[in-house]
Amino acid sequence: MFKTEYTLVLIKPDGIQSHHLGEIITRIERKNYQIAALEMIKASEDQLRRHYSDKVDQSFFPELIHYMQEGPIAGIVVAGTNVVKEIRKMAGATNPGDATVGTIRADFGREWPDGVMRNVVHTSDSVANAQREIQIWFPELNLPK
Ligand code: PPS
Repeated sequence: MFKTEYTLVLIKPDGIQSHHLGEIITRIERKNYQIAALEMIKASEDQLRRHYSDKVDQSFFPELIHYMQEGPIAGIVVAGTNVVKEIRKMAGATNPGDATVGTIRADFGREWPDGVMRNVVHTSDSVANAQREIQIWFPELNLPK
């Protein structure tokens, strides 16, 4: 029995600035997933600290927070069966340089001269984390359990 899942996609500032918002949404829709919520967001430090709460002790954390505030981001809640795993496959490896051609990070990401790892999108890594993250970015959204 397949159950509808929800996942969170954040299109990061580099993805918005390079005009890939439409293409990324098109890729999601081509896979026949439903867009359950969509919003342009100026990420606050509080939201980012909650979203990346398990990364606060990483050396790259300040860089990550700064990067995520370089411009607006798009928050997208995507619904479908097995959507958490499938959307992660579509995103590709964390580092765009390691991602397989055809994935979002390989096709729209690149290396940057300042050494910051900008990787175009965030995608939830589990159903439980998706529920937690969706609450941060869409606190008023009531999704079916
Ligand atoms: S780790 O070390 O296992 O926690 O890292 P990883 O799971 O690969 O990545 C977690 C998120 O941190 C981002 N990340 C970075 N951002 C900026 N600079 C550097 N150096 C860096 N390294 C990792 C990575 O993109 C993950 O963010 P999301 O938004 O989940 O993709």
